[in-house]
Amino acid sequence: MCGIVGYVGKKPVVDILLDGLEQLEYRGYDSSGIALKCADSIKVYKAEGKLKNLREELAPHAYELTKATTGIGHIRWATHGAPTVLNAHPHTCNCGNLTVVHNGIIENYKELKEELEAKGCTFRSQTDTETVAHLVASIYGQVKDLTKAVHLASEKIQGAYALCIMHNNEPNKIVVTKRNAPLIVGYGENEFYVASDIPAFIKHTKRAVYLSDNQVATLTPDSIVLEDEHGNKLEPKVELLPWEPIALSKMGYKHFMLKEIHEQPDVIRNILVGKLHTPEDPIVLDEVKLTRETLKNLNRIQIIACGTSLHAAMIGKYIIENFCGIPVDVEASSEYIYRKTVTDEHTLVIGVSQSGETADTLTAIKQSKAKGSHILIITNRPDSAMAREADSLIPVSAGIEVSVAATKSYIAQLTSFYLLALYMAEIKGTMAQSDLTALKAEMMLLPQKIEQILAHKEDIQKCARKYSGTRDFIYIARGINYPTALEGALKLKEISYINATGYSAGELKHGPIAMLDETMPVLSILMKGSVYEKLLSNSEEAKARNARMIALTNSTDEKLDDLFDFIIRVPDVIELLSPIVAMIPLQLIAYYIAEFLGKDVDQPRNLAKSVTVE
Ligand code: F6R
Repeated sequence: MCGIVGYVGKKPVVDILLDGLEQLEYRGYDSSGIALKCADSIKVYKAEGKLKNLREELAPHAYELTKATTGIGHIRWATHGAPTVLNAHPHTCNCGNLTVVHNGIIENYKELKEELEAKGCTFRSQTDTETVAHLVASIYGQVKDLTKAVHLASEKIQGAYALCIMHNNEPNKIVVTKRNAPLIVGYGENEFYVASDIPAFIKHTKRAVYLSDNQVATLTPDSIVLEDEHGNKLEPKVELLPWEPIALSKMGYKHFMLKEIHEQPDVIRNILVGKLHTPEDPIVLDEVKLTRETLKNLNRIQIIACGTSLHAAMIGKYIIENFCGIPVDVEASSEYIYRKTVTDEHTLVIGVSQSGETADTLTAIKQSKAKGSHILIITNRPDSAMAREADSLIPVSAGIEVSVAATKSYIAQLTSFYLLALYMAEIKGTMAQSDLTALKAEMMLLPQKIEQILAHKEDIQKCARKYSGTRDFIYIARGINYPTALEGALKLKEISYINATGYSAGELKHGPIAMLDETMPVLSILMKGSVYEKLLSNSEEAKARNARMIALTNSTDEKLDDLFDFIIRVPDVIELLSPIVAMIPLQLIAYYIAEFLGKDVDQPRNLAKSVTVE
């Protein structure tokens, strides 16, 4: 999390930094700041909250700052210390000559801080980052060379970081380095850009170098000197980024989230192109690099992910086990990395991540790769750190998702899981041809069904209004839609801050039912199929405790009218594909409740789009 950007060249730097930070706002938005190399000093400007506050802070100085052509900037997602101006980056050493922006976490900052305080450094913030400023400055005092000082400081720092550092004595220079956090250098004409993600500079250049861990790059307007951790010079590998500058437009929608929800039919259509031609043709999935022989003999899969991607993974497990008969374990990456996991070269490990940068998932992937597992990555960012670890890469191609709450990337992940499971089932011969054909035919109809739901979104809006005053919300489901209940609840809590929880309906009577009374809305994801009757009974049990009952269903059964206070009807769909159809109204309910409550839908508090800290 956090976004960093830097520029060294001949152009006025302020707007380059501010525009770059704006593109990185998805990485956090607690505070922001920039440092500029001015005539005889480095000037630092910071503001709490969104970037617009920093713009306002800078406005009175606009003219005097136009001369600065070297600078670094930061947008923060607070980890250590509250989101205040004091804790905002850039951080400086005590004399103000050295300044740093940082993305990541310095794990040994307490020890470093003690050492530095003993040497006379005074800390002003509660951040881990400030230790870097003092550490590099104190080493600089001895070696008088910023690049050397950064090398020596890196040896002492533990944790994850991307760092951009400037020193007043070495004008027109930025030294950058990284470990387990993304950092990319963009090449211009007599200028260099640096950022934690491509959108920060893509409108200026498409030529870039991805820094590898522990490399140090020294950027001046005319040169880049790239070194490995021992100071050996390296030839930068310049890549042409497959990106167009993105016009981030809401296209008339009030929020990006609503726009992204509406894009979902096309997202599915785009994914199916070239992979699912007709219901009779086999699925084409050239992205899977396992041989047919290996796939046939594959007898274990592990899927690792976080948050919404974890919910997609849970549905992935359900369908892979159902279609292919392969046992699948699903685990949150943050748990996976801190226990003894049993994985080997016979296990397929699937990492799921819209951003491709989530620190826990990236670490988990690296751990299983080291044990010899084939790594398959499902991500919306084929240029991400996770994608670069992949043996097989399935880009979900949902297009850039601006809203922090994942919607279209989730539906894209699910669609990719269906394709993968069908592809494997066809190779393994685990499904009857008639079932395969029927499922593929139904998949091709999904975009239309979503369009039908979107065309009647006013009903869902009504439901949202009706329940927007609630403090708590329960979602229940069973079977393949249990993860849908979890995801529906996650969507609601992250953008409306309502305490929403998803339960497997069968578990309700083992504890959660105690919470039910006439104030509690219970939304039952009642899709026709193997667990329909069971879920109906569980809904009756909730109704008997006076809960405010809502059904999300594809059933036309009239007896539901007596049981439920509000019914959201969706087009008919087979049970195995119902998670895609059922999720759309849940996204809309979360959206409309948050919008009705006046919340910051696209940038909910405390969250960020890319979680690059463990
Ligand atoms: C919620 C959401 C998060 C992410 C999670 C993992 O809407 O987006 O729960 O799913 O932070 O992120 P990725 O998918 O980038 O690994």
